Amino acid sequence: EPGLATYDPGFVNTASCRSAVTFIDGDKGILEYRGYPIEQLAEKSTFLEVAYLLIHGELPTKEQYESWVHEITYHTFVHENVKEFVQGFRYDAHPMGMLMASVGALSTFYPEAVNISDPDNRHMQMVRMIAKMPTLGAWSFRHAQGKPFIYPDNALSYTENFLSMLFKMSEPKYGADPRLAKALDVLLILHADHEQNCSTNAVRSVGSSQVDPYSAVAAGIGALYGPLHGGANEAVLRMLKRIGSKENIPAFIEGVKNGDERLMGFGHRVYKNYDPRATIIKKACDDVFEVTGVNPLLEIAQELEKIALEDEYFVQRKLYPNVDFYSGLIYEALQFPPEMFTVLFAIGRTPGWLAQWNELITDSDQKIARPKQIYTGARTLDFVPAEERW
Ligand code: SDX
Repeated sequence: EPGLATYDPGFVNTASCRSAVTFIDGDKGILEYRGYPIEQLAEKSTFLEVAYLLIHGELPTKEQYESWVHEITYHTFVHENVKEFVQGFRYDAHPMGMLMASVGALSTFYPEAVNISDPDNRHMQMVRMIAKMPTLGAWSFRHAQGKPFIYPDNALSYTENFLSMLFKMSEPKYGADPRLAKALDVLLILHADHEQNCSTNAVRSVGSSQVDPYSAVAAGIGALYGPLHGGANEAVLRMLKRIGSKENIPAFIEGVKNGDERLMGFGHRVYKNYDPRATIIKKACDDVFEVTGVNPLLEIAQELEKIALEDEYFVQRKLYPNVDFYSGLIYEALQFPPEMFTVLFAIGRTPGWLAQWNELITDSDQKIARPKQIYTGARTLDFVPAEERW
């Protein structure tokens, strides 16, 4: 009925919740986790400390941090049945499909996770999910490569352990260089949360039914899988390879203007300025390329950005590089295949999804998600039996 609800495609102007986790000012290109500017966290913190901050709302003391890291380090293993579950996928299954299913499967290994009113239980499940996401992500990668799974090594840091489970016994030995683990840690920090984006909205919506957190996060992974959201980093690399050389950029830009192409990695629902994460990732490229050599696609990306930022089509639509424009260049330099890029995004986003889920569960005002609709179909028709219709 008119007046009951206004149509707001993609909920662009509808507040779905109150939250104190992440602040974004899209016009000024500001991003803060629990009030701390992303630039300071990327430079001075670690991914696990940022995960603690997002979930607990403040930076940890030394004891709190050491206990947090210890708990996560000792929960990186998954049940052997989960390993068999991952091995059951087709040889060429997309790692995001495997990750989404494996995380959902974890809800059956921890049936107590549904006791979401118990804060200690919520804490235990959040620790488990942050700890196991890299293991499941690495095993999805190894399965897709047809290689044996590598078990977690609890003597390593979180990011070094992830690189070890991915690349140990592989050449070149990128997992061993500390500069790469640091660069990957920064990338995970930059992806850790982003207020009410599509996948976080999915986690909150599914979580509002009071299901266990594994099922809610599996829904978020499904949303992130989409090419307009997390899948954009994979789409950027395929786009740069398709462009192939700087000489082909003008023709590509024309394709964008006439609607045949989309400049992946550009534009954002909230940022109408440069995504602050893209600025930091662009700098991280230099650190990584020192070790791996410059990704030849970098110069196409830089020329594409230069041309787009000066072109009226993009300027008037306020289209700037977003978090996905440069991240794929680093992931490819680290020898990740494009289908793994969104898995890396999911591992980074896990603490944010959990912080938002935890905030939802502990918000006494929160109700089950039930958006309104504006009905546009037929009404009160009389049914005509089949024999009279055929
Ligand atoms: C992420 O929400 C989050 O916070 C997400 C995220 C996170 O951390 O969780 O930041 C991560 O998802 C980043 C975005 C990754 N996606 C891409 O890079 C895909 C390419 N970008 C677009 O598809 C688009 O910009 C969106 C989906 C990101 C945002 O779309 P909006 O806000 O709905 O913008 P729109 O579709 O209304 O576009 C407005 C205009 C349109 O032109 P007109 O119809 O007015 O002529 O801008 C055009 C669009 O066609 N446009 C683009 C474009 N993005 C928008 N044209 C060419 N290339 C693009 N990338």
